[in-house]
Formats: sequence, C-alpha cells, structure tokens
Amino acid sequence: MGATKLYEADGHSFILLEGYGHGEMVPTNQVVIHDHNEAILLDPGGHKVHYEVLNEVSALVPVNDLKYLFFSHQDPDIVAAANAWLMLTEAEAYISELWIRFIPHFGVDELLIPRLNPIPDKGMRLPLGNTELLFLPAHFLHSAGNFQVYDPLSRTLFSGDLGASIGPPYVEVTDFDQHVQYMEGFHHRYMPSAKANRLWADMVRGLDIERIVPQHGAYFPDAETSRQFIDWVAALPGAVELMESVYRVPE
Ligand SMILES: [Fe+2]
Ligand SMILES: [Fe+2]
Repeated sequence: MGATKLYEADGHSFILLEGYGHGEMVPTNQVVIHDHNEAILLDPGGHKVHYEVLNEVSALVPVNDLKYLFFSHQDPDIVAAANAWLMLTEAEAYISELWIRFIPHFGVDELLIPRLNPIPDKGMRLPLGNTELLFLPAHFLHSAGNFQVYDPLSRTLFSGDLGASIGPPYVEVTDFDQHVQYMEGFHHRYMPSAKANRLWADMVRGLDIERIVPQHGAYFPDAETSRQFIDWVAALPGAVELMESVYRVPE
C-alpha cells in the first residue's frame, strides 16, 4: 500500500495508490490524476479501504481540488463507498448511464444522487485543469457498461478490470510472458467476449500509450509491456465460449 507518482511534469501528475484491501478482499488499485488545481480519483474502492484511501488522497492533493470521481463500472470494489466520497467532497461522479439507477442501492443519499453523472455509451472527454481526459468505451470488459480512462499528458491508460492480475509478488510487470499466469484465470472467467477483446485492442492501438494501470495487481510500466498486453488481449478467447460445457441442469 502507498502512493507512487508514475508521472509528474508541468503541474500534472498521475499517482497510483496500489494494493488496498486485506484478508479475503481482492486488493484494489486507485488512481489520482492531478492537473493544476483539479484532481480526479479513479475507482475509489469499497467501504473497507475508504478510510485509508481518503487519508492517502488528502495527503496528496487538497481535498477541495478533488473535482471528479470516476467509476469504471458498478462493482462493489469500485462504488460501494460512493456515498461517503460524495459526502466528504464536492466532487461530481461519472459512471456509465447503464448504472446510474443501480448505484443508489449502495445507499447513496437522495440529496447526493444529482451528482452522479451518466457517461454515454460512446464515451466522452472530461476537462481537468489545463488538460482533458478521455473516457474510453470498454463495454463487456467485463461489465456491460464499462469505461477506461486515458490521460494524454502522461500517456497512461487506466484499464479498470482489464489487465487485472491476482497475486503477483511484484507491482511492475517486467517479464510479460511470466506475468500471464497471474491474469489468465481472471480473464478467462470475467471477460465474456473474444470480439469485445479484439475491438478494444484495435481501439487502443490508436493511442500513444506509455503505461497501462489496471484496477487490480501489477501495472505495465512501459510502452513495450503495454504493447505485449494489448496483443495478448487481442488474441484472448471469450469466457462464453470457454464455458459452453457448464450450461447443463445441475444433477
Ligand atoms: Fe469488476
Ligand atoms: Fe475490479
């Protein structure tokens, strides 16, 4: 746990809060992107990590600078603490339009609900300080309404659950082939569609990517490991096909 500045230049920084969660919880990565006087927190995490993440974020940026929250999709390891984040900050939150009416079930106060903003299926651009971030459509990777964030200044892609690794004993991927063992099980079960995998790879190949940071596990620290990861996703089979044999009435 702790914060690492993966990029810092000219009033812009991309900060990774790595490996929050303990015991049976899947550890989560959180990201802060700060540009001049505005910051966004990506995938803030659930209740159990809220206090620690809040402490860390407040140490990194003035809380008044936290203008935006981004939820890549609707899972509890991302949005469960939405109410607390909205209460403690003035931030506007962004999530797929598919999930706007589901998030209040996590216990978001009625007065805070207007600060949940829908991201349209085709994605959008969000101004941040003197720059602009891209919310990229990444539907079915794994959620039906799912987005990733590309920061053009640090040339970093936050890929949400895509690229998640479970249990690697390191934070940076140096040997891609050796790293596949920590990603494979998760992707073969959670990423349903080979076609969505390929469409995503085609889309992000059009971006200038220096590193890729997923919501769980180790990140791809340079252009070469990021390219290897994108190639791996392009050839990844879909979970639906891999699981055809389980569609049987249980005995
Ligand atoms: Fe998820
Ligand atoms: Fe996740």
